[in-house]
Amino acid sequence: MATSRKKLFIKTYGCQMNVYDSGRMADVLAPLGYEPAEEAEGADMVILNTCHIREKASEKVYSELGRLRLQQQEKAAAGERMIIAVAGCVAQAEGAEIMARAPHVDMVFGPQTYHQLPEMVTRAVRGAGGVINTDFPVESKFDLLPGEGATPQGPSAFVSVQEGCDKFCTFCVVPYTRGAEYSRSATQILEETRRMVANGTVEITLLGQNVNAYHGEGPDGGTWGLGRLIRALAEIDGLARIRYTTSHPRDMDDDLIRAHGEVPQLMPFVHLPVQSGSDRILAAMNRKHTADDYRRIVDKLRAARPGLALSSDFIVGFPGETAEDFAATLRLITDVGFASAYSFKYSARPGTPAAAMAEGRLTEDDKSERLEAVQTLLAEQQRAFNAGLLGTVQEVLFDRRGKHAGQLLGRSPHMQAVHAAAPDRLLGQVVPVRITAASASSLGGEVVTTETALAETVLAETFLGNKTAPSGVAPDIKANHQEMTA
Ligand code: 5AD
Ligand code: SF4
Repeated sequence: MATSRKKLFIKTYGCQMNVYDSGRMADVLAPLGYEPAEEAEGADMVILNTCHIREKASEKVYSELGRLRLQQQEKAAAGERMIIAVAGCVAQAEGAEIMARAPHVDMVFGPQTYHQLPEMVTRAVRGAGGVINTDFPVESKFDLLPGEGATPQGPSAFVSVQEGCDKFCTFCVVPYTRGAEYSRSATQILEETRRMVANGTVEITLLGQNVNAYHGEGPDGGTWGLGRLIRALAEIDGLARIRYTTSHPRDMDDDLIRAHGEVPQLMPFVHLPVQSGSDRILAAMNRKHTADDYRRIVDKLRAARPGLALSSDFIVGFPGETAEDFAATLRLITDVGFASAYSFKYSARPGTPAAAMAEGRLTEDDKSERLEAVQTLLAEQQRAFNAGLLGTVQEVLFDRRGKHAGQLLGRSPHMQAVHAAAPDRLLGQVVPVRITAASASSLGGEVVTTETALAETVLAETFLGNKTAPSGVAPDIKANHQEMTA
């Protein structure tokens, strides 16, 4: 098929599942002549891959659509077309409503339909009206998206292993936007990972809205849990690190916990959302676990892998949350101690059971006050965790260049962003780094080993006479923000 080159800009909101999906959309569109562009301006197609998890996330999409309209008009004045598409969870949840609010949108399609993109594009280009596709097709997109020939993701890559959720927490839209739980086959995951490693990937993060609910078919015909899958992945030569996100406490089974003690490639960091420390609120949220269940799981994880760092998600101001309930959340945080965490004000999502809970709704001011208290405590813990690493040597996987010349950025085993002066040839390698600076959001350090001499030369050349040493630069840790659920 003869194709002309066209520019494709994808803007990704929300979780890492969306980051992964955006990459797959680009892969599907490549045979049609679409090449990735850095910005919307001048692009032939713009896709907003959206997030619906909280109210603010979906409002941002409508403001962006307003801005894009002007660029679409400019292009039209020059006799060219800009196709505007809304993908992801806002598309799934709002469907036709988006086109009613923003008639300049050409395509609206949900997360389960990306493999049908070429057909949708053809319809949008030819047809007069917009294309809406919010189906949950019977065929799995994972069987139909390109595997071989997919764009390499770099040293640290995502592998989607599970999608959807059957837990139905009362505040959450995911079971409605992403649909029922589905696990890919272990064979498919192992193949995809082997291919990635052959292309230079050294770290994978297994992705799923409820990743530890994974129950895929193994090559032996049996059903594999996440622990079993991780052990099989650890056999792949050249794969140095394995991570997974996001987990639900209920699915943290003994095999997975044991894997933390037995598989050295499995990194000592778990993002395990708890949402609240009050059993009354956890029940109202339909979380299916108590605060003590959570404490016990953490104890087991830390017994299996001493020094394991934890991260979590918290919601403050859920309907009916009293001062005592909130105090229980602060207590749980103090008891557990988190290396990092995300916290949010409850926001009612249309169609979820909690949105109909009229009793005990909190005012915005009360929610803001609680959010501040929770964030102050979590920030103290994060700062203390980071400061505790000063003077230690951490294995850092450098996966990108820093903001300054001669600087690389990477992640420690516990997921902290680390920057250090280092030559480009260390990109994609796991390198020992002595930690010399710690802030709440990042660490700075010096490469240890025979590379040190060279790194110091680079440092001297690059920063000679410059008072701002590279260790003072805080990378944008939020750029990798994991806004997954569970
Ligand atoms: N309001 C506030 N926070 C929410 N989250 C999910 N739904 C809501 C909501 N309605 C948070 C949860 C989840 C994280 C990704 O987003 O803490 O774990
Ligand atoms: Fe499922 Fe997580 Fe949403 Fe609960 S918060 S419904 S476990 S995705």
